Amino acid sequence: MDKLRITGGRPLEGEVRVSGAKNAALPIMCAALLTDQALALDNVPRLMDVRTMAKLLAQMGVRIGAQEDGRLELQAAVVGHPEAPYDLVKTMRASVLVLGPLLARCGRARVSLPGGCAIGARPVDQHVKGLQAMGAEISVERGYMNASARRLRGARIVMDLVTVTGTENLMMAAVLAEGTTVLENAACEPEIVDLARVLRSMGARIEGAGTTTLRIEGVRALQGARHRVMPDRIETGTYLAAVAAAGGKVTLTGTAADTLGATIDKLSDAGARISAQGERIDIEMASRPRAVSLSTAPYPGFATDMQAQVMAMDCVADGTAHVTETIFENRFMHALELQRLGADIVIHGNTAIVKGVERLQGANVMATDLRASAGLVVAGLAAQGETVIDRIYHLDRGYEALEDKLSRLGAKIARVR
Ligand code: UD1
Repeated sequence: MDKLRITGGRPLEGEVRVSGAKNAALPIMCAALLTDQALALDNVPRLMDVRTMAKLLAQMGVRIGAQEDGRLELQAAVVGHPEAPYDLVKTMRASVLVLGPLLARCGRARVSLPGGCAIGARPVDQHVKGLQAMGAEISVERGYMNASARRLRGARIVMDLVTVTGTENLMMAAVLAEGTTVLENAACEPEIVDLARVLRSMGARIEGAGTTTLRIEGVRALQGARHRVMPDRIETGTYLAAVAAAGGKVTLTGTAADTLGATIDKLSDAGARISAQGERIDIEMASRPRAVSLSTAPYPGFATDMQAQVMAMDCVADGTAHVTETIFENRFMHALELQRLGADIVIHGNTAIVKGVERLQGANVMATDLRASAGLVVAGLAAQGETVIDRIYHLDRGYEALEDKLSRLGAKIARVR
């Protein structure tokens, strides 16, 4: 199994280009199921999760072109096999995003339940409840959701909690439903706005994306479109946190600061000098960071996907930070690994109290999920000596060319077997 070896304690300097957003690319790929015409995408990141989604769609009959220079073309001329099997869904929970589009396009779907996940229970009850309100019949049998509907009907749906993929699934189901759907308490994440943008270019009628109320008027059919996937705000934030923790001066290109408000505010409070212009963000960190407390929240609050990376920075900061996780239970697995590097962290319920230490010391650690792994990379870059991170297949799911990009910034980092 591949490992990542980092010799830390060196500041980062230089320029790096941010890739397209994983969490936008995955739902947008599923939108290809909604039309028999071609969907041409640009800025698609080269990631394991994108390959897994391509594999899932291909086995349903979707024709997938070769991925070159961020381009990917998908065409679902016929969807012969509307099914998402357990072996793919278990490796990538976002596979559940095919449920809404399959029901809308084929009138039936068989999708494996995602099951448990390393960062909490993560049920899909809101997806199911919303589709049922639109007239779908859904039963669960031997670990699979069997869904059917003649044609989905528009409905008013108040979601019990804010769910990103739940909102996306219902939005994709509603675009081909008969009549109007109103989704209340919808998630406002920028990736939802990006999905709405591509659906609108395909002919969908959607209002309110990026707010808590979405209004979708169903249409009979959608057509093909071309779309550029938005920049990855979590990848951007991860590089920013790495500079805040390890020090240095870095320019990120191909990104967008307007989707990163909460992260930029926290890193600025920590002492980073951050400025943004167009598609570029500059960060400079000349001193030891100051500790910053945070509490995760749905967008525009502080992203749970940035919690581990900023906690890693807090480990070497001056002062004590309270880091509270409100979205996922059990999302502190990185804290135990950070302690192996010498971090001083005490966990009380869903709050981690992080007392900054002058210096972390390199050690062997284990990646447990995607963003926990990113937190360990940030810590490894700031730590003195050698850190070896095991199970980095988690990182390959969500970070394009991580070690190349960090090497370009002067980090001493290598993949070893
Ligand atoms: C998405 C992101 C993930 C991010 C998360 C929160 C993608 C592909 N993944 O995941 O990177 O960490 O948003 O920003 O976009 N819940 C229920 N019932 C449901 C659905 C969700 O109880 O039917 C709960 C979950 O257990 C969790 C919370 O709602 O506690 C938020 O989850 P959700 O927003 O759905 O996360 P994902 O969409 O899976």
